[in-house]
Amino acid sequence: MRLGVNIDHIATLRQARGGLEPEPVFGALIAEAAGADAIVAHLREDQRHIKDKDIFLLKEVVNTRFNLEMSIAPEIIRVASKIKPDQATLVPERRRELTTEGGLNVVKKQKKIGQAVKKLETAGIEVSLFIDPNKNQIRAAKKTGARFIELHTGAYANARTKAEENKRVTELKSAVVFARGIGLRVFAGHGLNYNNVSRIAALKEIEELNIGHAIISRAVFSGLGRAVGEMKDLIK
Ligand code: PXP
Repeated sequence: MRLGVNIDHIATLRQARGGLEPEPVFGALIAEAAGADAIVAHLREDQRHIKDKDIFLLKEVVNTRFNLEMSIAPEIIRVASKIKPDQATLVPERRRELTTEGGLNVVKKQKKIGQAVKKLETAGIEVSLFIDPNKNQIRAAKKTGARFIELHTGAYANARTKAEENKRVTELKSAVVFARGIGLRVFAGHGLNYNNVSRIAALKEIEELNIGHAIISRAVFSGLGRAVGEMKDLIK
């Protein structure tokens, strides 16, 4: 099973000061050197963290696979078609949300999503649809012509009781089997962390997990002691 590392939060930190550091591209290279199998970034319409220029640079330097998360807004499709990441993961996007809150409603927006899939595939980009583990959504995803889906693991990650967690794992398991059965390739992600990843990693037919928040959060603390030490040495 591969790991895609989402580097949005590096850009979030950079935007806290609006300057040049930390540079997301540098983060992408470190992630790749440490074994990441793909780099994921979300170009939101408001460009609150990742910007057009980051996407352009990532396309140039990512050596593994560059997976661009994006909405189906025409302007974003235009940018993606020009830059041509290896993969586009279509996600729903609400302006004021803190992060992607749910999967795409492909059942309701099958036609529009299908058109976006076609445009992106014509530009040579593989397309994945980020959806909840629900058979109707999976069937609709297949009908759009997309060859990949990413199952939303947020409900599993947010489960507060063991019973709820078991229910969500069963739901994900049957979604994976169903999707594979109709010929879709399956990724998963959202809310996965160091405590909850193992039950999802055990679902062997998932090809790739996409993880961001937990990894960047862990990086802050695994690097903080050293960063303080380096500054202390300079001051001395
Ligand atoms: N997959 C998709 C489609 C997402 O939108 C996100 C969040 O940007 C992730 C995976 C990663 O989620 P997290 O940051 O919670 O690991």
